[in-house]
Amino acid sequence: MSRVLITSALPYANGPIHIGHLVEHVQTDVWARFRRLMGDEVLHLCADDTHGTGIELNARKEGITPEELVARSQREHERDFAAFGINFDSYYTTNSPENQELANLIYHALKDGGHIERKSSMQMYSESLGRFLPDRWVKGTCPKCGTPDQYGDQCGNCNTTYEPADLINPVDAIEGKTPVLRETEQLYVRLADFVGELERWVPEGVPQPAVRNFVDRWMEAGLADWCISRDAPYFGFEIPGETGKYFYVWLDAPVGYIATTKQLCDARGMNWRDWWDAGSDAEIVHVIGKDIVYFHTLFWPAMLHAAGLKQPSRVQAHGFLTVAGEKMSKSRGTFIRAEVWAEHLDPSYLRFYYATKLGNGIDDMDLNLEDFVNRVNSDLVNNAVNLASRVTKFIAARFDGQVCDFETANHPLCDDVASAVDQYRALMQDWDIRGATRLIAELGDKVNTYFQEAAPWALIKTDPAAAQECCSAALHAATVLMTLLSPIVPDVAAKYADAIGVDVLGLEHTSPAWRPALVAAPDSIISRVQPAAVDAVIEASKQAPTDDAVDDTSSADLEAIKPEISFDDFSKVDLRIGKVVSASEVEGARKLLQLTVDIGREINVFAGIRQAYPDPAVLVGASVVVVANLAPRKMRFGVSEGMLLATSAADDSGLQLVQVDPSALAGWTVR
Ligand code: 2FM
Ligand code: ZN
Repeated sequence: MSRVLITSALPYANGPIHIGHLVEHVQTDVWARFRRLMGDEVLHLCADDTHGTGIELNARKEGITPEELVARSQREHERDFAAFGINFDSYYTTNSPENQELANLIYHALKDGGHIERKSSMQMYSESLGRFLPDRWVKGTCPKCGTPDQYGDQCGNCNTTYEPADLINPVDAIEGKTPVLRETEQLYVRLADFVGELERWVPEGVPQPAVRNFVDRWMEAGLADWCISRDAPYFGFEIPGETGKYFYVWLDAPVGYIATTKQLCDARGMNWRDWWDAGSDAEIVHVIGKDIVYFHTLFWPAMLHAAGLKQPSRVQAHGFLTVAGEKMSKSRGTFIRAEVWAEHLDPSYLRFYYATKLGNGIDDMDLNLEDFVNRVNSDLVNNAVNLASRVTKFIAARFDGQVCDFETANHPLCDDVASAVDQYRALMQDWDIRGATRLIAELGDKVNTYFQEAAPWALIKTDPAAAQECCSAALHAATVLMTLLSPIVPDVAAKYADAIGVDVLGLEHTSPAWRPALVAAPDSIISRVQPAAVDAVIEASKQAPTDDAVDDTSSADLEAIKPEISFDDFSKVDLRIGKVVSASEVEGARKLLQLTVDIGREINVFAGIRQAYPDPAVLVGASVVVVANLAPRKMRFGVSEGMLLATSAADDSGLQLVQVDPSALAGWTVR
């Protein structure tokens, strides 16, 4: 028995899990379940990646603390992964004491080994915010193509990358003020110190040829120093022995792999070092997207080596997901959140479809929705599932659920079954999950043909013993098919297992000598994919709330009380009674209504309240409370000149306007 610790990349704690994430998590989960099926000891771990400026910015947009954002995100991520059967031994967070302790341990090892260097550079600083500005907090005109309103790292129009200071007329993205350049000192890891070690490790840890190509080219080009610090304020861990310096998120993110191991080992009375010490016999496998290969094949093995810890046995990269040949798109409804998928379609369908696509390479993979319906129906539902269901039902109905001994020599099919198990093991071990699904479908076809041709429903009339024998051989084949499918579609396999009285299908059940005590007719194992349900997912995804709809966002989940304000602060807010003069939908905005409100004069207001008012006309004449002295805000659809007080209903029916006695006079101050 081998020991294997397997991880997926840690999702950022600032957005929902979508079908793009699920490519990787399905791949990891299938492989982890496969290794378990083979009898190995497996730890399947993941966590939320919680630090850095992206999380801070999103929390700020929502008016909550980063801690609140990451707590909510972890809950939602765990819920979504559970719905898709992703079976973690632990799903943790990088914002944990274990992670801080281990990040410090690795940093000290790097420092003690003389691999940390200090260097000064000039960076953009906001005097009013009192902070250095991360690249994405600076906006300005692209120095190359002149497109305005571009982020400080890359132009969205011409894709040129640059430094924030290169932007023409840079401003900070929070307040729109012009930053200054200020000198700051940062800490760097001298990666070149590890070249010899990396040259040794890369050939064993990076077996995929396409990935190896990238890594070799980076090594040939020479390894630049890696900046691992950021100035305060920063949501992350303070660097020990430094003032106002924090670990850059990518320093502590992969340490989260070890921290999650430690948290789990502490809970189970094990020692994390049994997995991670340099001499450990465990395999460490990281499944990642091809965009983060550099971090996992250069920085990470160097950090681990410096700390005397075990380097990855294998970094397994995959390509990106496209839907109908294009990048996922919110407007086309192909940016599909896990939660939305699971509301309309069985998650097993997606697991199976991804499995039919996942090979050992890093090519992008396409979710073509028509192909999806056909593939799942033909290779899963009409194939192994149909067989399993027919055979069990027949045995339950005609032989009182009893199978009998059969001579494998009399059923040449049994040879195919036995050799499929060996081939499956080899394919899966080599990460050819796609090949394994093809093998299963081919075997399923053969067994279906065998069962059809043997026609036990006819044979039973003349030779019941022979009919029972043929059904028993077919049941053996169905059991093998379901066992091989169990890492891919565990819920499907579990329903079959239940029908043959088994808790969890294992290799022992693939022996022709194994017999179930009693075979029952299963409830529907899984039904065919309905194209209408696929349409419903796309439609729902067009409606689903998104995290980037800056102009029409209104967070219904805000419960945290904001920091205390003084009476003076409060008295700056001028609240007036307003009468709604007109209310209408805003074309192109899912959440917004446009209202004209009389507060003594008429103002134009965009409010994110559409969900609660499908017929906006009901608002005409309503007396509402208006923040009358808010600076006009330019939005995508026009200028909003005020804010309306609203409250979120407990039933998630959307923000409802606070309404007052209709006799209140427009323009009067609220006291
Ligand atoms: O690219 C990402 O989504 C990162 N959050 C992955 C981190 S993986 C690991 F290193 F923590
Ligand atoms: Zn440009």
